[in-house]
Amino acid sequence: MALLEVNDLKVHYPIRGGILGRVQSYVKAVDGISFRIDEGETLGLVGESGSGKSTTGKAVMGLAEITAGEILFDGKDITRYIGKNHSSYRKSVQMIFQDSYSSLNPKKRILDIIAEPLRNFEKQTAGKEKKRIEELLEIVGMSSETMFKYPYEFSGGQRQRIGIARALALRPRLIIADEPVSALDLSVQAQVLNFMKDIQKQFNLAFLFISHDLGVVKHMCKNLIIMNKGRIVEKGVKERIFENPQHIYTKRLLAAIPDINPDRREELQYFREQVAEEYESKYHIYYDKDQRVYDLKKTGDDHFVALP
Ligand SMILES: Nc1ncnc2c1ncn2[C@@H]1O[C@H](COP(=O)(O)OP(=O)(O)OP(=O)(O)O)[C@@H](O)[C@H]1O
Ligand SMILES: [Mg+2]
Repeated sequence: MALLEVNDLKVHYPIRGGILGRVQSYVKAVDGISFRIDEGETLGLVGESGSGKSTTGKAVMGLAEITAGEILFDGKDITRYIGKNHSSYRKSVQMIFQDSYSSLNPKKRILDIIAEPLRNFEKQTAGKEKKRIEELLEIVGMSSETMFKYPYEFSGGQRQRIGIARALALRPRLIIADEPVSALDLSVQAQVLNFMKDIQKQFNLAFLFISHDLGVVKHMCKNLIIMNKGRIVEKGVKERIFENPQHIYTKRLLAAIPDINPDRREELQYFREQVAEEYESKYHIYYDKDQRVYDLKKTGDDHFVALP
């Protein structure tokens, strides 16, 4: 049984206009996507800016209103409760964000930042709370004095660890990580990614790992979905998609990954040219007359592609 199952999810944002502020049309930020995440596993979610990645994460977190579809957690349909204070689910699913400057309140001490979810969900004595925070800081590799400082006193990588400590406070089973390393230097990115993998093993955590960068996701996930225009263009086991991409959109994302191996430079250049040519001449094959992404078809074992 999947830990999280999302079926035909839609999130349409109304666009209002005119003096009466009537709804004039909708932004179909997410338009009918389905996926599942198993316990302890990582699903990568990749797409360019505006493809609907964050909206997907927010819908699962209960932070964006669901227009249609259903969300199951542990086999139970929780779609109707998701935005409400359904506390066992709210504890089980946590989110970490790209921008640790704005997601950690600059006016609060680290102690109060990490304690916030604990105070919302678990009433504890100040002593117990402090002990738990020490524990959490230790898990993310930071000293206990950290708790008396403020976010500005830390580097981006350290702040990301603090965000992770806060996400872990309620012992979640799923973490939605929305571009968790995109704001960090390359060397720090690798540290944070490795660290995320360590805590995943330690706590049997599942991740929905959101990124615009296929290169980052490659080292993190088992399964992958590629999003474009609020829809899924390709889905499956990571290796299938990297080795045998089928949709032109996926190919373009792959062609954009820089290769540091000089021996492969020519090969990559050839792939890039081919993809650019195919994009020019065959784009229309991959989208219907309204420029919409087709429904997914099974093209192989654990491999689905949006084709007519
Ligand atoms: N609250 C909102 N109201 C109206 N439209 C929205 C809202 N939030 C997002 N959108 C629109 O929905 C679409 C998808 O946005 P979303 O933030 O999910 O994209 P994304 O894939 O996370 O992009 P990025 O990589 O830039 O973070 C965009 O066209 C965006 O403008
Ligand atoms: Mg986003």
